[in-house]
Amino acid sequence: MIGSTAGQRIGITGLGTNVPETVMTNDDMARFVDTSDEWIRERTGIRERRIASQDEALTDIALPAVREALAEARADASEIDLLICATVTPDMLFPTASALMADTLGMRNAAAYDLLAGCTGFMYAIAQAYGMLASGLSKKALVVGGDLLSKVLDWEDRSTVVLFGDGAGAVVMEPVTTGGFLGFELGADGGGGIHLCYPGSGSRHYEGPKPALIMNGREVFKFATRVMVTSANAVLEQCDKTIDEVDVYVPHQANKRIIDYAVGKLGIAPEKTVVNVDRYGNTSSGSIPLALADARAEGRLTDGALVLMTGMGAGLTWGSALIEWRSSA
Ligand code: ACO
Repeated sequence: MIGSTAGQRIGITGLGTNVPETVMTNDDMARFVDTSDEWIRERTGIRERRIASQDEALTDIALPAVREALAEARADASEIDLLICATVTPDMLFPTASALMADTLGMRNAAAYDLLAGCTGFMYAIAQAYGMLASGLSKKALVVGGDLLSKVLDWEDRSTVVLFGDGAGAVVMEPVTTGGFLGFELGADGGGGIHLCYPGSGSRHYEGPKPALIMNGREVFKFATRVMVTSANAVLEQCDKTIDEVDVYVPHQANKRIIDYAVGKLGIAPEKTVVNVDRYGNTSSGSIPLALADARAEGRLTDGALVLMTGMGAGLTWGSALIEWRSSA
């Protein structure tokens, strides 16, 4: 699916993020699986990640991010009429994380649902919110992206456990007078889904060891390097923009090598690229909002800056968005 936004100005007016307190370094990891700081840094660029405690569920991590986003947008919870939470690790399958958060925050007027699109979830969710807002169905929307993948990993599998971390972000989206989204490109290839899956997590009969995320790293790597480039180029072309016009590039933070490959192929300056995978690992649906928040903290999200975001993940899925940033300051 691809489209430019035909002049409907819908922007991000609030952004918040939150991660669990516990930091797990590569050396900590090496105490319980056969790995090393050197291997993890060289192959992935990751140095440490945040891991939720046994008592913490997704909504515990996401709610502070939501409150921060609402405060920045100067929005009261009662004004939100749509809450979409992109996650593959809700507190439980139902009630949904979004319904639970809407209740906690007193969002009495909001439709609330969870959205499953793997690590691309945040990109799918902002596109959906855009559509609802542009059509007038929603007046003010809240999009949450977050995952606690630590809860669904096999902690004896060194090939997956070192890659992921926990975290969440949230944005308020609404009509704006300047800036806003210019276009989206989203796609899926279920044929490749087998390379990154969680068997035993749904209604398909499963016999085997305790269900956990499994991944064919090399196949996901090939897929990721391909779509990070094709999806970004597609949305740029659709919106009549060139890569040279992009001020800030926010790629999904899965692996520094994937990001470096995309940067080289797209021909974007490394200094325009946001990288925080070293500190958080791959936080799935939390990845892009966490990277946006880092870019903002570094003063890179200036008024009018053209921001390109691309995510990819389980499904297999991918998605890009172009937005002219609108600083709320
Ligand atoms: N520590 C030490 N050695 C390891 C580890 C580890 N944590 N994991 C694997 N190895 C070993 C393997 O067993 C293998 O050993 P062998 O040669 O004796 O068989 C060797 O290291 C090389 O393994 P490869 O899988 O070939 O290593 P590669 O260079 O491909 O790196 C990696 C693996 C990092 C997983 C890479 O394939 C990758 O990044 N893939 C994409 C993963 C990804 O991005 N997933 C998420 C995207 S979607 C989403 O966000 C949910």
